[in-house]
Amino acid sequence: MTYLSNDKVENHFHDVVIIGSGGAGMQCALDLADAGHRVAIVTKVLPTRSHTVAAQGGINASLGNVDSDHWHWHMYDTVKGSDYLGDQDAIEYMCRAAPRIVRGLEHQGVAFSRLKNGTIYQRPFGGQSRGFGDGGQASRTCAAADRTGHAILQTLYQQNLRAGTHFYQEFFALDLITDDDGCHGVMAWDIANGTYHMFQAKAVILATGGAGRIFKITTNAHICTGDGGALTLGAGLPVEDMEFFQFHPTGIADVGPLITEAVRGEGGYLLNSEGERFMERYAPKDKDLACRDVVSRAIAVEVREGRGCGPNKDHALLKLDHLGEELILKRLPNIHELALRFAGVDCTKVPIPVQPTMHYTMGGIPTNRSAEVVYRQGDDPERVFPGLFAIGEGACVSVHGANRLGGNSLLEIVVFGHACGVRVQAYLQEQHYHPPLDPDCWKKGVDRVERWFKSTQHGDEKPKVAQVRARMQSIMQDHFSVYRTEDVMSEGVDAIEALVDELENARIEDAGRIFNTDLIEALELENMMALARVTAAGAHARTESRGAHARDDYPERDDQNWQKHTLATIKAGKVELDYKPVRTIPMTVESFPPKKRVY
Ligand code: FUM
Repeated sequence: MTYLSNDKVENHFHDVVIIGSGGAGMQCALDLADAGHRVAIVTKVLPTRSHTVAAQGGINASLGNVDSDHWHWHMYDTVKGSDYLGDQDAIEYMCRAAPRIVRGLEHQGVAFSRLKNGTIYQRPFGGQSRGFGDGGQASRTCAAADRTGHAILQTLYQQNLRAGTHFYQEFFALDLITDDDGCHGVMAWDIANGTYHMFQAKAVILATGGAGRIFKITTNAHICTGDGGALTLGAGLPVEDMEFFQFHPTGIADVGPLITEAVRGEGGYLLNSEGERFMERYAPKDKDLACRDVVSRAIAVEVREGRGCGPNKDHALLKLDHLGEELILKRLPNIHELALRFAGVDCTKVPIPVQPTMHYTMGGIPTNRSAEVVYRQGDDPERVFPGLFAIGEGACVSVHGANRLGGNSLLEIVVFGHACGVRVQAYLQEQHYHPPLDPDCWKKGVDRVERWFKSTQHGDEKPKVAQVRARMQSIMQDHFSVYRTEDVMSEGVDAIEALVDELENARIEDAGRIFNTDLIEALELENMMALARVTAAGAHARTESRGAHARDDYPERDDQNWQKHTLATIKAGKVELDYKPVRTIPMTVESFPPKKRVY
């Protein structure tokens, strides 16, 4: 063990440190703690406030409780939904595991809604089919009303308390401790006490969630700032496919909170200003339950062509009053409350104003299907970086490719949280001690914080963190939205790069060390800026339309040149792009070759 001599830094030793307390981190921690390992979750929030709590509509598994279903059909839908950018080995792994994983959650205590025969309630979600697209709509999404993430997170938290997982809550991760042999820990800041902590671990797992807050209007909580991706970039490792951010078709107009796809699964539908069910034109078969990228683009086109609703003609209406008050209050109680609070409408009587809203980060930290972080070394684009693992929305395994299916996010976090737990148990068998560390390894993390305290002495002419953040979010919203073009993106890249210096010169105002939220927002903005930069560069470079990346100037998918993953790093202050092949070969079944996506 290395006790760092600097008396500013408190040392902690664990077998495994997991950064992030959402569903992925919690599932992984539970597996490892139950196996007898000394596991710590380091999280910047109270664990049950992690963003998994906000997941509404459900978790996909081919249980077949409503109609016949099969994991292979689920796999087909997921590959097609990903616009053929998803890695098919990982997709097969996830879809095969789903029924077992969901039953496992049920046995741990997740309070799923029930069908009359007592089995888990399942509803249709977008992009779900039976019989490889030929057998009609599937009902594959297992739900606890419209609070499924809440039910899962609470259960996993309770199970972790039982299993003896150590929680370090309200600790902010500053820097990964890496050397040529791999990752050995993380430096963190205790938000409540204003102190530095070194967590040494044989394995470090990044489970930090998405980066939706790089955009201005998003369904994501304020905490979704891409911290794990930024830590990875800070360690000189790549992130993957960051140009693919999913716009959910039904965020509440102007403000963003999510109105779950379950509304359309239960029979709700979209209208334009002419009262037309416009999805019938864009997706004649699946209509309002086409994939999210398709529905979001349809709303954008309706608005662009003057058929948007409201005084500014800038949104669509989501009608569900015909479902009846009883069903709405039973199956969609959260939606009823959100619509009242954020849009001021009683959705049992009138439609909800909605617009495409940034919802999900498809890209992230590259991993294989055992959740090991991979990077390019020479000709090998998937070399494992020892001791470092990533799971959940912050990772890119990549099961979602260019567009995620609703209900596959909760599934991914539990499946790969578990897969990671299994892999780390094997890895720990070979790790007998905490390796000696460079005695100065704490410095980078400490410098990251102290430079912000120095910034409180800057004059008033320097920008505040909040001003830089607002600019970044507006640039991303205006230049990298549902539809993208060369000119608009190229301006966006320049604008984001120009902000890098501004952030260097920005200041915080609060010089106190105890619960300094001004400081935390500055650290989060550093993280978001790194991800905004690679998102902008990756999007600008990709000259095709695929999934959530839709270009007016390159409207077609180009499999010959672009069926490949983007890898982005930041080296010597500059964004560098590289590419690697999609893993098109599944584990046991035949590959699904690319074809035109119609819904
Ligand atoms: O619409 C929703 O309930 C969202 C689900 C998801 O993103 O998976």
